[in-house]
Amino acid sequence: MNDTPPSAGAAPVTLRDQFGRGIEYLRISVTDRCNFRCTYCMPKEGLPWLPREEILDYEEIAEVVRQLAPLGLRRLRITGGEPTIRPGLATLVRLLRDTAHVEDIALSTNGVRLPELAPALREAGLDRVNMSADSLRPDRIVGIARRDLGFDPVRSLRAAEAAGLGPLKVNVVVMRGVNDDEVEDFARLTLDHPWHVRFIELMPVGEMRELTWEHVVPTDELLARLSRLGTLTPDAGPARGNGPARYHRLPGAVGTLGVITPMTHTYCGSCNRVRLTADGRLRTCLFGDHEVPLREALRRGEPLEPLFRRALAGKPEAHGLLQMQVGGLRALSQVGG
Ligand code: 5AD
Ligand code: SF4
Repeated sequence: MNDTPPSAGAAPVTLRDQFGRGIEYLRISVTDRCNFRCTYCMPKEGLPWLPREEILDYEEIAEVVRQLAPLGLRRLRITGGEPTIRPGLATLVRLLRDTAHVEDIALSTNGVRLPELAPALREAGLDRVNMSADSLRPDRIVGIARRDLGFDPVRSLRAAEAAGLGPLKVNVVVMRGVNDDEVEDFARLTLDHPWHVRFIELMPVGEMRELTWEHVVPTDELLARLSRLGTLTPDAGPARGNGPARYHRLPGAVGTLGVITPMTHTYCGSCNRVRLTADGRLRTCLFGDHEVPLREALRRGEPLEPLFRRALAGKPEAHGLLQMQVGGLRALSQVGG
């Protein structure tokens, strides 16, 4: 098994952005492609995919991490697109696991391939999984994902749990009139399972034709609804990973309920993350075009630290999503969620 990291302890954080926020968390997109076509993420016909030669190979991704880790990076998340459709993902997990200073490696996935891949990913050194699930009803899953892959969220969560990939987080994008009648069903999952179900406010990004601001369910409204199931007690949430969610617990529940509020609150002030796109650009904010290309320097064998520092000097203080018009923003599958 993988319980002993190659090097004990993270390096001190030396990467700070222009506002003094220490950077210790990297999200790594390994592909912009996906086997789903979620209505809130990409058009049914897909997006213009990156050409193969522009995508970093696993060794190149690992090299970026090897150069960032001594500067204080300690937590990694593998994202996409859908990361599990890239062949041999366990190979990357192993390379990252073998990198000094890296303490935590998580994966964000739509869960379709978890029953098949969870054991090998765990064996390679993956710590834990966040899985998306927007519905528990088979017909509705197909309606939202626009692909019928026989996805059974509870089966995939059980597979991840059985493989030891916890604490498990379940991400639910709440859409009014689409799946908001299932929030109680999702919440009830936490009564018997030690899972952390997180409700995410829909963000009107990418090329969404079917979803508008009217589909956004503000978290205050959601919490009022959930509190009818029982008194919600504020909770610290899962021990690992300190993202932007705020957690609560239902009476007697073994799991927790989280809310993520990109639309009604921003948490840019405590942002500790940067993103590596599949084609090797370091993005310092999910929104806007704050990015520095690393790929050519990487392929020439040049040191990346000056580029990291230049990227961080341009990390914006906050995104302007709330002020932005619908459209003109890139799908999260293209920027690594
Ligand atoms: N709004 C909110 N969340 C989104 N995600 C992707 N697109 C959106 C969006 N438009 C997040 C969700 C989803 C994951 C893949 O990325 O968490 O589950
Ligand atoms: Fe794929 Fe995730 Fe986008 Fe859905 S939200 S299409 S699963 S990348």
